[in-house]
Amino acid sequence: MTSNKDTKINTFNNRSNQRIIIKRCNSDDLDGVIKVNEEELPEDYPYFFYKSILDNYPESFLIAQDSFGKIIGYIMWRVEKTPSLDSLRYVNKGHLVSIAVSQEYRKRGIAKSLLTNSMQTIKKYKIHEYVLEVRISNYNAIKLYEQYNFQISNTKKNYYRDGENAYYMTLKAKKS
Ligand SMILES: CC(C)(COP(=O)(O)OP(=O)(O)OC[C@H]1O[C@@H](n2cnc3c(N)ncnc32)[C@H](O)[C@@H]1OP(=O)(O)O)[C@@H](O)C(=O)NCCC(=O)NCCS
Repeated sequence: MTSNKDTKINTFNNRSNQRIIIKRCNSDDLDGVIKVNEEELPEDYPYFFYKSILDNYPESFLIAQDSFGKIIGYIMWRVEKTPSLDSLRYVNKGHLVSIAVSQEYRKRGIAKSLLTNSMQTIKKYKIHEYVLEVRISNYNAIKLYEQYNFQISNTKKNYYRDGENAYYMTLKAKKS
């Protein structure tokens, strides 16, 4: 990504030859992010939840915009300090809170671009592990995470409000 003051921008031509921009979210973008979330995921969050993630971890809260500036995807993470996967030592974990791409823009590499860029920017918190939960039925997302070498560490029973189980997937961060 190239730096433009505090906004990080990455552009690429996807399969339909449209320019997609990946950049940092700002508070004016939150309504667009919430719209994508409500259209694409059953898990909704109140506005203040998005705002607090943005205020605390702005570097890794990224959006994708189409060539008209419409928000068509987002990713947001938080950082938590909990025991490491393989010891009782407390380490910083990057916890993927949510990622979604609008239906009509899927399978064009947008989620990969959001993940790759945000996993870089969140490193400033000295991340030891990346972690996430995903519905056990969410084949597309599981495939996406496996491409990044996330592995299923365990199953969280009844994790979602509708009772579906979640896979807890984890990845050790590479030392840089
Ligand atoms: C999961 C999601 C974010 C993927 O977005 P996307 O922009 O379409 O993903 P990409 O084009 O970057 O694809 C990356 C990889 O994801 C996997 N994947 C994505 N869509 C897939 C599909 N329909 N079938 C199989 N694998 C798929 C593949 O591994 C793909 O890599 P490949 O193109 O080399 O095969 C998108 O499907 C989505 O928004 N789903 C609804 C929200 C959601 O489930 N979020 C995750 C919650 S944990």
